[in-house]
Amino acid sequence: MKVLQITGYGKIAENVEFREVEKPKIGNHQLLIEIHTASINPVDYKIIEGAMKNINKLSFPAPVGFDLAGKVIEKGENVTNFNLGDEVFARVPTDSPGTFAEMIAVDQQAVCQKPSNLSYAEAASIPLVGLTTVQSFQKAKLKSGDKVLIHAGSGGVGSFAIQYAKAKGAYVFTTTSTKNVDWVKDLGADRVIDYKKEDYLKIIEEVDIVYDTLGGDYTKDAFKVLKEGGSVISIAGDPDNETAKELGLNGLIRFLLKLKRFKLDQLSKEKNAYYKFVMMHADGTQLNDIKELIESNHIAAIVDKEYPFTEAIDALEYVKKGHAKGKVVLNMK
Ligand SMILES: NC(=O)c1ccc[n+]([C@@H]2O[C@H](COP(=O)([O-])OP(=O)(O)OC[C@H]3O[C@@H](n4cnc5c(N)ncnc54)[C@H](OP(=O)(O)O)[C@@H]3O)[C@@H](O)[C@H]2O)c1
Repeated sequence: MKVLQITGYGKIAENVEFREVEKPKIGNHQLLIEIHTASINPVDYKIIEGAMKNINKLSFPAPVGFDLAGKVIEKGENVTNFNLGDEVFARVPTDSPGTFAEMIAVDQQAVCQKPSNLSYAEAASIPLVGLTTVQSFQKAKLKSGDKVLIHAGSGGVGSFAIQYAKAKGAYVFTTTSTKNVDWVKDLGADRVIDYKKEDYLKIIEEVDIVYDTLGGDYTKDAFKVLKEGGSVISIAGDPDNETAKELGLNGLIRFLLKLKRFKLDQLSKEKNAYYKFVMMHADGTQLNDIKELIESNHIAAIVDKEYPFTEAIDALEYVKKGHAKGKVVLNMK
């Protein structure tokens, strides 16, 4: 079968290759999935470029890709919840990537039946961004009536998160650039701030939750618009100490992170706030909750571009530019 493999750390085009490899063998708890569509996430190019090697050092050649939608073509003897021919979607476990391929063996616990109202391309766009958002808002204890700021509402995560927060009864502020304002509003955001023309720091105050999908100064600035006792959940800033430990970062890196977080920790203390960096994980049960929100039309899939698998490098380069409108997918068929 054809796979895309990472051959070294560095520029995307110079460090990935298409190769023919043996069909994967499945374990007792695994499904063999024929992948119809995979979706691309920024973490894919970050891994290729070596940005994640403190968390997980690769040995080359290495598989790439976490999101998929496809069909079950074999199942292990202890698999109980799936049948051959089932149409499924999944974010595969962090330690076993490889959805940029024609087939993959996946633990059944990471897999869920595909929402009946989505195509394969739409379904593949959901798992990683959906699970990240569910896990982030769980940490923030999101409740109906909360005021939430979601940065980058036009991105893969943001476009899902706006719909999810609205489905949970929140009032949603979001940021995006001029060209995206109208369609992001259509996702349900109550106030869309055009970052090319407006300064969100002058518009927003006293929100319950900031969902920081941008990192850098946005993480620190979150505390300027947060109410006393609110939550800043970051997926792009610096890991808090607990998460750094869970990620297996060594003592020196944790110490350097602590120094880097000095201002952030101070701001958090001053506001009596909760700061958490979330590193998402695979979870078939949570994916099933997301499936229900999709089938009840609370959340739609937002696919910006579809590429054939053979053009995966162009697709990765497009995502790296950082201006996708929703998600980018690779069709294997
Ligand atoms: N920790 C985790 O588990 C986890 C999970 C998922 C994602 N992430 C990280 O979260 C980040 C976002 O992921 P993603 O998939 O949403 O990325 P993405 O789809 O590539 O985000 C692109 C979007 O960001 C918007 N954007 C760029 N600069 C902006 C700014 N200054 N203000 C507002 N919007 C801006 C762009 O809109 P314009 O074109 O209008 O600028 C574009 O629509 C990435 O760094 C990713 O690695 C982390």
